[in-house]
Amino acid sequence: MSHGHAWGEPVAGKRVDLSVRIGSLTLRNPILTASGTFGYGDEYAHVVKIASLGGVVTKTVTVHPRAGNGPTRIAETASGMLNSIGLENVGLERFRSEKLPRLRALDATVVASIGGETPEELEELLGALGDEPGVGAFEVNFSCPNVAAGGARYWADPARLESTLRRLRHLTRRPLIAKLSPDVTDIRETARACEAGGADALTCVNTFVGMAIDLERMRSKLGKATGGLSGPAVKPMALARCWEASRAVKIPVIGSGGISSGRDALEFIAAGAAAVQVGTATFVEPGASLRVVDEMRAWLAAHGVTRVEDFRGMFDAPAAQAVGVPGGAK
Ligand SMILES: Cc1cc2nc3c(=O)[nH]c(=O)nc-3n(C[C@H](O)[C@H](O)[C@H](O)COP(=O)(O)O)c2cc1C
Repeated sequence: MSHGHAWGEPVAGKRVDLSVRIGSLTLRNPILTASGTFGYGDEYAHVVKIASLGGVVTKTVTVHPRAGNGPTRIAETASGMLNSIGLENVGLERFRSEKLPRLRALDATVVASIGGETPEELEELLGALGDEPGVGAFEVNFSCPNVAAGGARYWADPARLESTLRRLRHLTRRPLIAKLSPDVTDIRETARACEAGGADALTCVNTFVGMAIDLERMRSKLGKATGGLSGPAVKPMALARCWEASRAVKIPVIGSGGISSGRDALEFIAAGAAAVQVGTATFVEPGASLRVVDEMRAWLAAHGVTRVEDFRGMFDAPAAQAVGVPGGAK
């Protein structure tokens, strides 16, 4: 599958066009922050120039406020971390009255993440938020591994995904992005079901179910037995799921899982992703997402690529069809 690509001349001084489209929404660049790792955006405004990001995906909001799971909710693992936050959030009313006005003031592209235990709850959320100004798109969290009801297992059923998206589609004119779990036998099935139900894009993937045991106490290192694994440890697995999903559908796929450098981001884009999300890396370095934008731009410029859109899917492009890379195709 590797074609041994010959890249073009560096394009020093020339602007690299980083803009990408997700349905009807144009992002200024393909780097978003991942839900649950960047608060509601405004918390990071003093460290990161939010308007320079492709977008901010807010913490998943549910109809009613949730306190989340008990402690311990975070455990470090080799090259990654487990979390069992359990969708702690302020609930629909405070999200609309407090968080959205602050986000509107940030000049950021906002993707609002919504989560529900049933299709009806998602309908209620989208019915309430669907026309709110300041929201560029909605990401439906069909993949939380840390809740007792309405989590990744419940939403792993392709028929349920398709019928739910059909019910949601008419409730907003904004793009609907379905966020999928990696913990399924074949992600192409859930991906195709979301496309058939009317999703405008997919996010692949949420955290992987994982666990860690404290041997002396013979207890989980988390408050509950299992949690969601994220960080560099999951990147190769997330990349494979993203590549598989991208090839299975025509709608754009947004990559997520272990991305912490421009090179990581470009691997996902080469594998077919239209955009990517930076999550756990933000905990290590609050400004990681913006650094990823800069590193990506520099790599593309150094390799003669003037439009990131031309780079998408390059891994699968037969060398003869490699487009937009000056002098690139042999
Ligand atoms: C502490 C924490 C909280 C998260 N909360 C959410 C959430 O509320 N909704 C969601 O869709 N994903 C949530 N995620 C998953 C991330 O958005 C992301 O998909 C995942 O962590 C993989 O990317 P990463 O390796 O870059 O972190 C959370 C992840 C972490 C680490």
